[in-house]
Amino acid sequence: MRSQANSLEYQWMPFTANKHFKAEPRLFVEGKGMYLKNHRGETLIDGVSGLYCTPAGHGRREIADAVHAQLMTLDFVPPFQFGHEKAFELARRLKEITPGDLDYIFFTNSGSESVDSAMKIALQYHRTRGQAQRTRFVSRERAYHGVNFGGLSLAGMVRNRESFGPTLPGVSHIRHTALPENKFTRGEAEKGADLADDLQRHVELYGADTIAACVIEPIAGSFGILVPPKGYLKRIREICDRHGILLIFDEVICGFGRTGKAFAGQTFGVTPDIMTMAKALTNGVIPMGAVAVSDKIYHAVVDAGPAKGIEFLHGYTYSGIPVACAAGLAALDIYRDEGLFERAAELSSYFLDQVWSLRDIPIVTDIRGQGMLGAIDIEPGDKPGARGYEILQDLFNAGLLARVTNDTVIFAPAFIVERKQIDEIFDKTRKVLMRHAQRAGVRLAG
Ligand SMILES: Cc1ncc(COP(=O)(O)O)c(C=O)c1O
Repeated sequence: MRSQANSLEYQWMPFTANKHFKAEPRLFVEGKGMYLKNHRGETLIDGVSGLYCTPAGHGRREIADAVHAQLMTLDFVPPFQFGHEKAFELARRLKEITPGDLDYIFFTNSGSESVDSAMKIALQYHRTRGQAQRTRFVSRERAYHGVNFGGLSLAGMVRNRESFGPTLPGVSHIRHTALPENKFTRGEAEKGADLADDLQRHVELYGADTIAACVIEPIAGSFGILVPPKGYLKRIREICDRHGILLIFDEVICGFGRTGKAFAGQTFGVTPDIMTMAKALTNGVIPMGAVAVSDKIYHAVVDAGPAKGIEFLHGYTYSGIPVACAAGLAALDIYRDEGLFERAAELSSYFLDQVWSLRDIPIVTDIRGQGMLGAIDIEPGDKPGARGYEILQDLFNAGLLARVTNDTVIFAPAFIVERKQIDEIFDKTRKVLMRHAQRAGVRLAG
């Protein structure tokens, strides 16, 4: 039989247009610092940290060395009923950078698992306090919380859910915060804090004592970098507190310096009860996620359990395995030693200037951003998402990796980026978008 080693046929690719990809592949073969090399030998600048994962850049030797050393010393330990030193060390290091009393860390392998774990923690917390009827979750329109059934149920984009049946019962969605009058607002908009009152409406509709938690991305990432209006998250916090509802921040994209502080909750001055993280936790190189919970929640669940019995019947075979912890510790060392969160804060204004410099391009219909996250909306083509997909390919061919969802182009460069590299990202973007604007103009005129 002919070898199929180089066939593109057999991988069913995630969130990918499989048929088209296999006809016109976009493959990478190398990554170093801010740059990637594709299968044609061309160099691309990475404008989105892979997938918001690599704030320290690609090919970090410190992490590779730590991973190698760990594999040669202790490669695997069962995480149920056994442990190893690095998991405790990483938990302590994370506790040091999480806000408030989010002192206890539960390890997972992805953002999706972190979200589903956070939901289970919230449910068990209420049950141990005699409030087992609190099973409802409130999420938001345009939210993305991963793809497992918990997170999928929270998803605020119907297309992500429609193929998969009814999903979890008892999830409702409050309004998103992208108001038309706030278009082109840089950072937090002045108007819109009152959108938080939609949570109060749900409380009145369903009864406060049925709601376990409200789950929020501080900046809604995947569906277009929706920065919260000024005061919005504080108001959400107040409503939760008033009604005994837990507040869960999903920091899978926002965490680890993306908004200039370790976590976006710190940037917006709001501390949740539970916080999810993943992606940049290991600088993207080993799958790992985590859930940080408050002292109150950890103790409520663990203290209520039997003296020698398992208190929380949940976990993954790879929760906090040695190699992931080694990668996480090495990544945290780099972030600290190179002051990368501070660097993100410092670079943000230059970066956002460049995002906003695209405003004059006729097909750009909105721009949003904060910290090292920026997004531009493009006037849709014949069908929603069609022009966005062409732009994704054209950016790739022009030497830039950006994230495109529907007709929104998202930028989230690594924090090691130099100013001239930010210029390079936006020079390439401008050229591609201008070509599309000209074509759209020609079509409109014709
Ligand atoms: C806010 C948020 N939550 C959860 C997830 C899911 O993470 P993963 O793809 O690691 O499962 C993502 C992924 O982008 C995300 O942005």
